[in-house]
Amino acid sequence: MSAAIDQEGLVNAARFCQLNQLSATDSLEKEYAVEIKRIRFIGQPVSVKLNNKEKELLDAYQYSVQNNQPVDPNVQQNDTYMLYTAPISLSNQMCLKCHGSVGKELSQKDWEALSAKYSLDSLVNLKPNQTIAIWSLLFDKKELVKRIGEE
Ligand code: HEC
Repeated sequence: MSAAIDQEGLVNAARFCQLNQLSATDSLEKEYAVEIKRIRFIGQPVSVKLNNKEKELLDAYQYSVQNNQPVDPNVQQNDTYMLYTAPISLSNQMCLKCHGSVGKELSQKDWEALSAKYSLDSLVNLKPNQTIAIWSLLFDKKELVKRIGEE
């Protein structure tokens, strides 16, 4: 994404932060029978369906962040799924070029151009290292075991 920002400018490069636009996501999902999601703490589109465990973990991560407790990756499983979750933080300075403060890291002009294309309201004016979302990798356990057996 860094290279894209240099070559195409901020607004064009923003498409690389759209998970469902990345072809790698799609092929990984197929190869490993996994559903890959990024789940926002604030402003998560309702169209993305979460299972009860994902909801529970989302709440738990959010609670930890609000209470300044450390957040770590986590694995949960039952008979049907294996769920890997991990926090997503703005730990790279580059992230703040789009998710930082409007008028500071992000110019008013770029903010307007980005807002015209994306609903970024809850995704700007964020702080360095702030944890804003989680990764969720939801594996279909039966399929996973089957595919490992075929290796
Ligand atoms: C060039 C601009 C840009 C940069 C740099 C950028 N993002 Fe984004 N990010 C966006 C845009 C635009 C969206 C909204 C995408 C959408 O609505 O589909 C977004 C959405 C997100 C979301 C919401 C999750 C989701 O799927 O809805 C997270 C989390 C996120 N970014 C994390 C990061 C992190 C971490 C970095 C640094 C490694 C980063 N972003 C760098 C533009 C950027």
